[in-house]
Amino acid sequence: MTDDAAASTAPVGLDPGLAGSRAVVFGVGPGIGLECVRLLAALGADVACVDVEPDRAAEAAAALAEYPGSGTPLTCDVRRPEQVGRVVDETVAALGGIDVMINVVGHGGPAGPVAEMPDDVWRDVRTLNLDQHFLVAREVLRPMVARRRGSIVLISSINAFGSSPLRAAYGVAKAGIVSMARSLAIENAPYGVRVNTVAPGPTRTPRRRHLAEGELADVYRTSIPLGRLAEPYEVARAAVFLASDLAGYVTGETLVMDGGATVKYSVPAGN
Ligand SMILES: NC(=O)c1ccc[n+]([C@@H]2O[C@H](COP(=O)([O-])OP(=O)(O)OC[C@H]3O[C@@H](n4cnc5c(N)ncnc54)[C@H](O)[C@@H]3O)[C@@H](O)[C@H]2O)c1
Repeated sequence: MTDDAAASTAPVGLDPGLAGSRAVVFGVGPGIGLECVRLLAALGADVACVDVEPDRAAEAAAALAEYPGSGTPLTCDVRRPEQVGRVVDETVAALGGIDVMINVVGHGGPAGPVAEMPDDVWRDVRTLNLDQHFLVAREVLRPMVARRRGSIVLISSINAFGSSPLRAAYGVAKAGIVSMARSLAIENAPYGVRVNTVAPGPTRTPRRRHLAEGELADVYRTSIPLGRLAEPYEVARAAVFLASDLAGYVTGETLVMDGGATVKYSVPAGN
């Protein structure tokens, strides 16, 4: 059998190639980040679990005890360049390298119209949701480029594509992530490093469970074609897919996962 025939008839896909790999996830609290570290460890990756809250890092690492891969808790505020450089060095020292990085950190910040938005709100939301992605990617690329191998996944949002009334800074930052991932993908393709983004719609993380209850639940049921919020593990599956060898020819892309919400509008039939 030729190599091509072997590749095309292999049970495709079913090995994501993550066993024995070294992964670092930023933002591992009990939402999308925790589900990412769980899935990576279940697939055999050793995972550095990084959070600004030491307890969250420790709890995420402890949650991996039952899986083939290991968990290493590390603490870092991703807004601080010196801390980001330090934690990347600690990850490399603990795991021996970095093959996969998923950056989950982000938060919508206070709601309000642009006309009334104080400077510090705009700046803080942009720092947490966009500037830190630059800092983390820059540091993580050092070991990846040196080894000519790596995969980076950044968590954006459907706010990058629609409008974000009362959360303009968040929407701008999430759109910036998509743009930055495209630039990173092209700059680093020659070094064997892929860079992609996941853009989830509303997700039933502990922080947002209220959206799945009461009157709000009805709003989401009717506005989202699949009739429900995403589950955090579903977002993690998309992120880990992009990080894995299953997506080995995908770079610079954004996987929108929103139950069909952003493609719902259609031109009335016959027009
Ligand atoms: N939950 C949703 O509905 C939804 C929808 C679309 C996109 N997203 C995006 O998904 C990501 C995760 O969402 P989530 O709901 O799981 O959030 P979350 O708040 O549960 O998790 C974010 C984690 O980042 C950590 N963190 C916060 N600031 C940090 C800092 N400065 N340095 C290091 N770590 C820090 C927090 O401690 C927390 O563990 C975010 O980027 C969010 O914008 C969420």
